[in-house]
Amino acid sequence: MAKKIYIFDTTLRDGEQAPGIHLNIREKLEIAEQLDKINVDTIEAGFPISSKSDFNAVQEIVKKIRNRAIAVLARAVPKDIDVAGEALKNASNPVIHTFISSSDIHLQYQFKKTRQEALELAKEAVKRARKYTDIVEFSAMDATRSDWDFLCRMYEAAIESGAKVLNVPDTVGYALPEEYSRLIEYLSKNVKGIEDVIISVHCHNDLGLAVANSILATQYGARQIEVAVNGIGERAGNASLEEIAMIIDTRKKDLNLYTDINLKEIMRTSSLVKHLTGYWVAPNKAIVGKNAFMHEAGIHQDGMLKNRSTYEIMKPEDIGSKPSQLVLGKHSGRHAFVKRVSELGFKLKEEDLEKAFDRFKDLAEKKGEINDYDLRAIIENELRDVKEHFKLKYYQVLSGTSIKSTATVGINIDGKLVESASYGDGPIDASFKAIDAATKMKVKLIDYNIEAVSEGKDAIGAVKIIVSSQDVEVMGSGISTDIIEASIKSYLDALNRIMISKTQA
Ligand code: KIV
Ligand code: ZN
Repeated sequence: MAKKIYIFDTTLRDGEQAPGIHLNIREKLEIAEQLDKINVDTIEAGFPISSKSDFNAVQEIVKKIRNRAIAVLARAVPKDIDVAGEALKNASNPVIHTFISSSDIHLQYQFKKTRQEALELAKEAVKRARKYTDIVEFSAMDATRSDWDFLCRMYEAAIESGAKVLNVPDTVGYALPEEYSRLIEYLSKNVKGIEDVIISVHCHNDLGLAVANSILATQYGARQIEVAVNGIGERAGNASLEEIAMIIDTRKKDLNLYTDINLKEIMRTSSLVKHLTGYWVAPNKAIVGKNAFMHEAGIHQDGMLKNRSTYEIMKPEDIGSKPSQLVLGKHSGRHAFVKRVSELGFKLKEEDLEKAFDRFKDLAEKKGEINDYDLRAIIENELRDVKEHFKLKYYQVLSGTSIKSTATVGINIDGKLVESASYGDGPIDASFKAIDAATKMKVKLIDYNIEAVSEGKDAIGAVKIIVSSQDVEVMGSGISTDIIEASIKSYLDALNRIMISKTQA
C-alpha cells in the first residue's frame, strides 16, 4: 500500500531567512492561508525569538489557521523554547521544532561545546518543549557532517526526552543522494525507539541535490519532507514544494508514495510567494518556470500535436497553470471583475476589492485587455499592506540619446508634497536619485529586475528591486504598463519597508 509522505513547509521560516526577504504580518498570513489551501501538513510559521514581528506573525497565523499543524523554531535554549511556547499558546496543533548542532565542526568552532554538552542541551530542550506541546520535532543541525554513532546517541536522547519527529538536516547541502539515504537507513536501524517517531528530511540545495536527496531518503525510512515554495531558503534554498509534490505524484507507482498536496494550487502558491518575496522564478525552473510546459523544437511540437504524451509527462492544468482565454476590458463591469477575481481563488475584503477594481480600471484604460496574469499582478502587487510613508504623486522624466537624463518627482511625505529633481545615468537612475533627494534616504541598490507579467508590447512590467540600508536588505516591487513608473513605485515600496523595519527594530 502506498505510504503518505508528510509535507512540512518552511517557506515562512527557512524561506524567509533568504537575503532580502522581509515579509510583513499580512503577507505572512496570506502565504499561510495559501499553504493551508494547498494542504501542507505542517506550516513552520517562524522563529519567534528572532524578532517581535516574527512572534506577532506566528500569533496571527495560529489564530487564523486551525486545521494544520503550526510549527515554530527554537534553539535548544530555555528562553527560545519559552517564547516559542508562548507564541503557540492558542494553536490547535502546536509543534515546537528545537535544534542544536551535532557536527564536530559546528560544536568546536561555532558553539565551543563538547559532544556531551550538546547532548545534554538537546535533552533539556526537548523536555522543556514537551511542557508546551505533545509534538516536538528535534533537529541535529549539520547532521550530514556529524559522526553517525554520536548522531544515533543524540537522536536516542531526543526520543527518550519526548521528541516525536526527528529531523535530519543537510544544513550545508553537502550530501550525495546515496550517502544521505544510507544515513537515513543507518538511523532507522540503529536509533532505539525510532520506529515510534517520524523521520524527517531537510535538505539544502547548495549542490543542486536537495530534491534528489529528499526523494531518495523516502525509500530508506523518511516519512516527512521539509520544503519551501519555489525552493527558497538559506543560500541556494531548500527542496522545492512543487518539485517534491509533482515527483511523488508523477512517479507514484514507482515510489509507492502519495502526499495530500492539492496539486491544482501549485501555480497560484508559487506565484504568490514569488510576488511577495520578490524572488523570481527562473524561466526554466522545473514545474513552475514560464517555460516548464513550452515546446520549442519542431520535432517536439510535431510529437505534441500527434499525441501529448510524446513529450509531456505532466499537464499544465494539473498544477492549475492553464490561463483562461477570458479577458476583461475597460468596459467590463464590477460584477465581471469580482467574479473573475474569485474564480482565480482570491478572497478579498471589500476595501481591497474596491482598490483592486480602481487599479483594474486604470490599467484597462491604458492597456485595453486585462488577462489573468495582469489581474494576478494587480492583486498580488497592489494590495500589499505596506504603510505608505512615501507616496508617489507625480513624476516627469526627460531622456534621449543626446541629452543627460533628468527626472522630477513629487512625493507625498506624511501628507506633505516634496518635489525634487536630479540628473542621472539613464531615466531610472535619475528618478531614483530624485527620490533620494526628496526623501533624504540613503540606500544602496543591490538588485534590479524587470519582467513582463504577460505577453505583448503593452504588457504590464513588474519591477522588483533589492536595496540595502545599514546592512539590512529590503525588497520592493511595483507594476505599471510604464516601466519607469513601475521602477519608481518599486523604489518607494522598498523605502517604505525600510521605514517599517526601523519602527519594528
Ligand atoms: O538547515 C538547517 O539545519 C535548519 C535547521 C534549523 C533545521 O534549517
Ligand atoms: Zn535549513
